Amino acid sequence: NEEAQLEDYRPAYHFTPKKGWMNDPNGLVFIDGVYHLFFQHNPDSTVWGPMHWGHATSTDLIHWEEQPIALFPDSLGTIFSGSAVIDRDNTAGFGKDALVAIFTHHNHDIEKQQTGLHQYQSIAYSLDKGITWTKYSGNPVLPNPGIWDFRDPKVMWHEEGQQWIMTLATKQTITFYGSKNLKEWTRLSEFGENIGAHGGVWECPDLLQFATPEGDKWVLLVSINPGGPNAGSATQYFVGDFDGKTFTTTQQDIKWMDYGPDNYAGVTFSNTANRKILIGWMSNWEYANVVPASTWRSGMTIARELGLEEHDGQWLLTAVPVKELDRVLEDSDVIERIDVEKELDLSTEVMPLNNTFEGSFVMQKTTGFEIQLANESGEQLSFGYDQSKNEYYIDRSKAGDASFNETFPKRAVAARIGSPAPLAFRFLIDRNSIEIFADQGKINMSALFFAKDAFSKMNFRVDDLTTIENLQVKGVNVKK
Ligand code: FRU
Repeated sequence: NEEAQLEDYRPAYHFTPKKGWMNDPNGLVFIDGVYHLFFQHNPDSTVWGPMHWGHATSTDLIHWEEQPIALFPDSLGTIFSGSAVIDRDNTAGFGKDALVAIFTHHNHDIEKQQTGLHQYQSIAYSLDKGITWTKYSGNPVLPNPGIWDFRDPKVMWHEEGQQWIMTLATKQTITFYGSKNLKEWTRLSEFGENIGAHGGVWECPDLLQFATPEGDKWVLLVSINPGGPNAGSATQYFVGDFDGKTFTTTQQDIKWMDYGPDNYAGVTFSNTANRKILIGWMSNWEYANVVPASTWRSGMTIARELGLEEHDGQWLLTAVPVKELDRVLEDSDVIERIDVEKELDLSTEVMPLNNTFEGSFVMQKTTGFEIQLANESGEQLSFGYDQSKNEYYIDRSKAGDASFNETFPKRAVAARIGSPAPLAFRFLIDRNSIEIFADQGKINMSALFFAKDAFSKMNFRVDDLTTIENLQVKGVNVKK
């Protein structure tokens, strides 16, 4: 029956809301051993609508438990995206270690009047680790200066400057604000006018500080919609410097955090010390509202650990699944070394896994390869590496229902960065999604698909004779 089929699309080890609609991750914060994931949520419908902040918690970033809704719309508007910080020194006066959420109020009434003043930033605090919230009576803390798109505040404590920094999406630029108390904000600078991708509105930024052998480097994440490398939404990034006031970069080219179609609005957790952990929304505004769904819609990406690596004189953001994922992988036989001339049938490995598995291998001599996953209905998901073009790809055009949107069946590609040997490859399959991590996370691609039933065949095909090492396919067991 169709209802059960749609429920089969529910990922096993990625977060999905029990019911209703979800988009961006919000207020990601780590408190006393618990990861908090708030999210854009419309509890009463499976399409986007009046936004609330849903809430889920986890101790390992893999098993999530949904909590009561954290923030509800109020007289100032619905609750759009934002962030959360722990106010250690009680700068805002809500209490020591208060959890403070900084979010956009979106006022649909004002919008109707076309004033352009419909988005402004507000705060709320929680003294019980995000379960109950009090909105600040002085909201909004940052009124709208006359910019139609003025949203998604990401706040961090800037140690050197001894103040809070808000990174805010302002139409097609990022504006930085500073504050000593989270209540009064001063405009510091604006970035992005003549740089980066501008095919759509800039949203959900994040500013990250990395310690490198060459000193601190800063990365600015900027989601953009539309205008991504596939149709619709995607996240670009800039590597540069931030002096407490201004972000600068010498980067000329456009860089994407994920070259697949389905990783949007990703931001990182606060309060995780040196770990930079990102979760994105695994969808795309191009079709998010119309993908097959029953009582809930949309999932998050796997939590990813971000890194910054120098390659041929340029800095690259890397992303790999958090190491906590390893704890839920089933033991499996590892093929330590195998020479493959044309193809390898790995069907027996995936047959029992009900589309919840991960795979990985290392290829000593680089050659083009394709992994084809197929099911009894003849649907097929293919992904791999095209050596003649030096690019990775995911092809979901035959992987099931794609009738709901004409751009959905597209083949997504990502140019490989250089062509180092060996080639390292890892992929995650979770019911209706694939995420690939190539070359230690230098290339990532995330994509949804809607196959009728689980894959029972796996074929690994290579262009030329090569040696595959450490080849493994492991079930993901979230009961662990
Ligand atoms: C990004 C976004 C944000 C906004 C939210 C509304 O997906 O458009 O800019 O705050 O979704 O739900």
